Amino acid sequence: MYKEKKDIISILDLDREAIREIFSTADAFKEIIQRDNKKVPALRGKTIINLFYEPSTRTKSSFEIAGKRLSADLINFSASTSAVKKGESILDTANNLEAMKTDIIIVRHNQSQSVRYLAERLTSCVINAGDGYNEHPTQALLDTFTLHEMVDTFEGKKVLIVGDIFHSRVAKSNIHCLKILGADVSVAGPPTLMPMYIEDLGVDVHYRIDEVLPSQDFVIMLRVQFERHSGFNFPNVREYASLYCLNRKRAAAMKKDAIIMHPGPVNRGIEIEPEVADGKNSVILGQVTNGVAVRMALLYLYSGFSSKAMKE
Ligand code: CP
Repeated sequence: MYKEKKDIISILDLDREAIREIFSTADAFKEIIQRDNKKVPALRGKTIINLFYEPSTRTKSSFEIAGKRLSADLINFSASTSAVKKGESILDTANNLEAMKTDIIIVRHNQSQSVRYLAERLTSCVINAGDGYNEHPTQALLDTFTLHEMVDTFEGKKVLIVGDIFHSRVAKSNIHCLKILGADVSVAGPPTLMPMYIEDLGVDVHYRIDEVLPSQDFVIMLRVQFERHSGFNFPNVREYASLYCLNRKRAAAMKKDAIIMHPGPVNRGIEIEPEVADGKNSVILGQVTNGVAVRMALLYLYSGFSSKAMKE
């Protein structure tokens, strides 16, 4: 389905076949980036811009590494050191960058739907690197790619997403992606951090995690997004941690081979204990490694190449 799309804005623009093609392309790039020479000439001559209006460690760096490993020219744009500081709008900024003949513009912004707004007005391929509370589709693709490496099928697998669901674009993209792949998705967190529409997304909703953790195959712990909180979200951090932190006791009650994930950055001791984040069931750093392979696959496929061309 992605072949009909210019941009990556929402996971809902993809179907299972498209996600599987992204995974098979990422499998091939993952093999390439284990080599001493990690670089391929696939995107030589293409120009990519990382247009980030919000801070990022993982997404921005992994898109930069992915673009460079594909031999594209990649420029990092930082809003804080640009003419945005003089009042230039996001559309004027993007139009000016596109006037320099860009092929792909990767955008992170704190306003939901801002990336779609740009995609509808630009001719470059626009990739959503996180828009407000809305979606973070490339994070969901790297999370599910990480799980795809460990299981034969998503059908019937139980996934629990825990924490600050309301402010989490990662939760929304993962719910969509996991459901397209056939998983059985639940969410858990404080009622004050649960969006009103959550049941419309086809998930089971829990307010206590101890009753559901033992039956789960995969658990995605979310960062509490303090910077997006306003007013009363929960009484205090200690109470949040006592009810929702994935601590050693809770982890011990999970299935022996359950997989623990977190998109990062981690608030250690609030949503997950350090011993669990760094423990044997955690794949948190594996998610980051896979982020490069998945983003290479996306840059490659959305530049008009097919996974078939990779195998040839
Ligand atoms: N997971 C994620 O989006 O991390 P960054 O904010 O560091 O990009």
